[in-house]
Amino acid sequence: MKQNKCETIFTKTLGISCPIICGPMYPCSNPELIAAVSEAGGIGVVQPLSMVYVHGYYLHEGFQMIKKLTQKPFGMNVIVESSSRIYENRMKQSVEIALEEGCRFFITSLGSPKWVVEMVKPLGGIVYHDVTSKRWAEKALKYNIDGFICVNNRAGGHAGTLSRQELFDQLRPLGLPLICAGGIGNEDDFVNALKIGYAGVQMGTRFIATTECREKSAYKEAIVHSSEKDIVLTERVTGIPLSVIRTPYVDKIGTKIGPIARWLFKYRLTKKWMRMWYGFWAVRQFKKASLYGDSSKEYWQAGKSADHVNAIESVASIISRFAAAANRIL
Ligand SMILES: Cc1cc2nc3c(=O)[nH]c(=O)nc-3n(C[C@H](O)[C@H](O)[C@H](O)COP(=O)(O)O)c2cc1C
Repeated sequence: MKQNKCETIFTKTLGISCPIICGPMYPCSNPELIAAVSEAGGIGVVQPLSMVYVHGYYLHEGFQMIKKLTQKPFGMNVIVESSSRIYENRMKQSVEIALEEGCRFFITSLGSPKWVVEMVKPLGGIVYHDVTSKRWAEKALKYNIDGFICVNNRAGGHAGTLSRQELFDQLRPLGLPLICAGGIGNEDDFVNALKIGYAGVQMGTRFIATTECREKSAYKEAIVHSSEKDIVLTERVTGIPLSVIRTPYVDKIGTKIGPIARWLFKYRLTKKWMRMWYGFWAVRQFKKASLYGDSSKEYWQAGKSADHVNAIESVASIISRFAAAANRIL
């Protein structure tokens, strides 16, 4: 039997064949995309806000839709930031629903993964935590997590500051499996990440430009036609740098927040309210652009991996091409 060179500690723990995660994406994570990635041998991850507020499914319905399309494992993103008790309770309910629906892989971001680990581990859950540096990784390490999603400086969404190699070198001594998030657009990037020693990759931008993603074709085409220099970081959406495609609208309103907003972001109490306000605004903005095609005010999120995305393809063809390259080269 041929050896599967894509096999890593990550694929073995999750029972999947290819170490590729379709990262959670607000607003781009629709159930068909998530299911297609799992079905093709990777693992798709639910973004609960996107499932409910963009794609219009109650969370349990969204999971059931995924399960109709694939019997393979899937995951869920848990944003653990404790901005309010109401929010935290909602997130706990989401995790309960996910567990009831058979989800056993969780990616935690923006806070302490403690309560998620306590809820899911007794039921066989696996928890990977999003980090951008050693400092955050060391804080999370004490909670018995299983691995890190290492968000680097080329990632779509909220990018990190370190390169994929720098982040790997910082985190490797901690001894947990590492997933490279950011800058993976083609099979060479994928193989390169595995060669560095990553146990897998998490991709967002590449999976938007697929037939299964429900985003508008103008957005997918914009990714296909963007090069690295068309990707900019803007603070205007969430208050913290977010990676977007440079469009006339982005140029028009600029990429920096004003001095008052910057000042309010500095202090703990006001920062919490600012984050809530910007979060609310971003949810509305993306929903409008995503569902109703309001192209005059469009923010198209994408990472620098767009540079290596040259066509809209099916998820299955991307994953099989990446796996074949790993088997050929590694
Ligand atoms: C449109 C878009 C939305 C995203 N939304 C989220 C999110 O809601 N939660 C999250 O943890 N990461 C989010 N991300 C980050 C992705 O999960 C993933 O880590 C990142 O896209 C990897 O970089 P790449 O785009 O170069 O592949 C988003 C990325 C994109 C492109």
